[in-house]
Amino acid sequence: MRVSGTVRVPGDKSLSHRALILAALAQGRSRIRGLLESADVRSTAAALGALGGALEQRDGEMVIDGRGRRSLHASDRDIDCGNSGTTTRLLAGVVAGHPFGARFIGDDSLSRRPMKRIKQPLEAMGATVDLERGDGLPMVVHGADLEPVVWETTVASAQTKSAILLGALAAGVRAEVIEPQPTRDHTERLLAAMGAALRADERRVVIEPVERLAPLDFDVPGDPSSAAFLVGLALLAEEGEVELPNVCLNERRIGFVEVARRMGAAVSPSIELQAAGEPVGTIRAKASQLRGTAIDGKDVPAMIDELVLLACLAARADGVTTVRGAQELRVKESDRIATVVQNLRAIGARAEETPDGFTIQGSLSPLRGVVRTRGDHRVAMAFGILASLRGNEIEIDDPACVAVSYPRFWDDVKSLTR
Ligand code: S3P
Repeated sequence: MRVSGTVRVPGDKSLSHRALILAALAQGRSRIRGLLESADVRSTAAALGALGGALEQRDGEMVIDGRGRRSLHASDRDIDCGNSGTTTRLLAGVVAGHPFGARFIGDDSLSRRPMKRIKQPLEAMGATVDLERGDGLPMVVHGADLEPVVWETTVASAQTKSAILLGALAAGVRAEVIEPQPTRDHTERLLAAMGAALRADERRVVIEPVERLAPLDFDVPGDPSSAAFLVGLALLAEEGEVELPNVCLNERRIGFVEVARRMGAAVSPSIELQAAGEPVGTIRAKASQLRGTAIDGKDVPAMIDELVLLACLAARADGVTTVRGAQELRVKESDRIATVVQNLRAIGARAEETPDGFTIQGSLSPLRGVVRTRGDHRVAMAFGILASLRGNEIEIDDPACVAVSYPRFWDDVKSLTR
């Protein structure tokens, strides 16, 4: 199979959530273009609307009239976060810093995801977080006049870090977050671009009280996690090259590029500009012969959402690939360790589960069978790449679940393989 062409991948999901939330807490009119139009981002926009945010889609841009860092109000409905962990955890932080409460609900997958990791720091700051079923959703957050906090997270999670920073921002108090490993820093970069007093190094971030945030005028760059699937398609093709312009190339997001190179991939990102403190540029990737590699805990945060794809690349690589230190995969949209291994086996690849990762033996034999996504968008897309290769006969049981992060995915794959 040959690949060729250029695709502009949709806007970055993490940045889209954050741009909407921070614009609603700014003082004045923000204009955001290139927002990801997907189920997850719609969950954030609808939740902000229910909490009194003024958002309006106008002529290709989102116009948001921010009324200040503590300007939201209680909703008379539950806040439905759909499938989106980022919506839930970031908005829990925002509500914690306001003088009202909110009840968060979501779909079955989201309802099973851990929320104690935000309950603990938000309660240490003075909010109350009730988890009706012990953990997960429904979750009721009662906001308060928060106290300053120094919080050391035990799990590397940008969502937890962001919940604390957003609570502190809304309440106007200092917060310091120390992480076991650096995680994506989009909240920090956007806050700094909007005038917040912020200091950050590798594993530590401090936000000082700020009276007002300046509004945003922002073109959201493309999502490197969506781009990664098309990079994977190019790498596994027999010949050809793809070009993916306008992608966010934040180094805490593109760990998969370094790991793919270790596997022998011809993939090169080049930075062309900065937008709201984020490096943006083009990724080019060519058909390559891959070999197995070993991935450990220190590689994981910068490629946390790309490990499902990596597993599918490993199934086509020469030799064995091991992933360790990735226990966080068990609490994503599905238990991604179990989902990946079961599906690889279901289509005839050799894969073993471990408590914190998997081992995959690569092969070029044809793969055949049905993939059960468990509603997980990244599972559908990663196995979708394997399904598009000549010689494989793979059916994806729920291809529509890509709507969570990349609704145009199947069309974009087609356009590159025509
Ligand atoms: C995200 C952080 C990561 C990532 C998720 C998006 C974010 O989750 O897996 O897709 O936007 O902050 P964790 O914070 O749970 O690691």
